[in-house]
Amino acid sequence: MFIEPTIDLTVHHKPQSFADRFAFGFTKLLRFCADTFFAKRYGHRAIVLETVAAVPGMVGATLTHLKCLRRMKDDNGWIRTLMEEAENERMHLMTFIEVAKPTLFERMVIVGVQWVFYLAFFMLYLISPKTAHRVVGYFEEEAVISYTHYLAEIDEGRSKNVPAPAIAKRYWKLPETATLRDVVLVVRADEAHHRDVNHAFSNELHGLAVDHTAVAAYPVHDESVCIQKIAA
Ligand SMILES: [Fe+2]
Ligand SMILES: [Fe+2]
Repeated sequence: MFIEPTIDLTVHHKPQSFADRFAFGFTKLLRFCADTFFAKRYGHRAIVLETVAAVPGMVGATLTHLKCLRRMKDDNGWIRTLMEEAENERMHLMTFIEVAKPTLFERMVIVGVQWVFYLAFFMLYLISPKTAHRVVGYFEEEAVISYTHYLAEIDEGRSKNVPAPAIAKRYWKLPETATLRDVVLVVRADEAHHRDVNHAFSNELHGLAVDHTAVAAYPVHDESVCIQKIAA
């Protein structure tokens, strides 16, 4: 039986520092671009934005790994957490590619955006990791809002509640009868977890108190799916 994940949809980190205000403004600018480009095409929106969402974790993991090597210091679990985030976002992409097919134009946008975003985020993480994690925290706040809109589209009949893709059923250990609605619920819970983890990382780098109990629960994942050849 599938139990709907319960998450707090109202979590928002109020910008306090210059880094926060920069991160929040940057996120709102990108949100405006995404809203203009995709409008209510949520399946397409998910595909393109998940190709972006899977970048920061890998950048953060790489640069944290290199810093730990240089300083000969422990990472306190950050590297694995960030690598797992990148992998989880890639599984979101592998799932939604089964639900919607990107247009040729969207594929070209993905290639262009990856060049710009990877390099820009890499530079930002080098200069200010606390700003970079805050950016991701705000991105994830927006992802939670977008997937809530996607759920409303399904519930109100504007998007078909098709059966869940096989890969999603395996990765999130969903029942055979699972639907797209169930997938969106677990993906949104993943995003809420990333939101809280990245805000907590930024808070730690800001020297603020960190409440680890405030992190949204992560849905169960079968990580073996990520290391097997996906086409069964
Ligand atoms: Fe995602
Ligand atoms: Fe995410």
